[in-house]
Amino acid sequence: MATQRTFSIIKPDATERNLTGAINAVIEKAGLRIIGQRRIKMTQEQAERFYAVHKERPFFGELVEFMTSGPVVVQVLEGENAVKAYRDVMGATNPADAADGTIRKLYAKSIGENSVHGSDSEENADLEIRQFFSEADIAG
Ligand code: TYD
Repeated sequence: MATQRTFSIIKPDATERNLTGAINAVIEKAGLRIIGQRRIKMTQEQAERFYAVHKERPFFGELVEFMTSGPVVVQVLEGENAVKAYRDVMGATNPADAADGTIRKLYAKSIGENSVHGSDSEENADLEIRQFFSEADIAG
């Protein structure tokens, strides 16, 4: 598997608890390089577009409200098999099901406030990176 990129978000529950550095340490220890990073406050429009695939789900409104409730850190990660490598180190969506040592097991508060996002496919990674980054802001 060649070097791949994935898209990550450190969510408001984590920035609120000053966990950006701790989460970045787990990411880097997993062998992923942080090749783009920016702290932003997501707008309603950005959050609705980002999670459009979930717009019919009952949790959509809460999800958008949460993602716009405080600052987030958007990131581009690079490494071998990065999409799967990051999903593995993030852990299951619900922290109650997440494996020991994963970011969500270590830090997530609940299934909704679960500290991190990671793309679920290479195609989505590409779309998500392009929603938040221009190539000039990424240095591999
Ligand atoms: P999903 O894409 O299923 O999970 P993941 O982030 O692990 O790829 O869901 C997107 C986000 O939606 C999830 O991180 C948190 C939120 N969510 C809820 O609030 N409640 C739920 O029941 C589910 C499935 C997700």
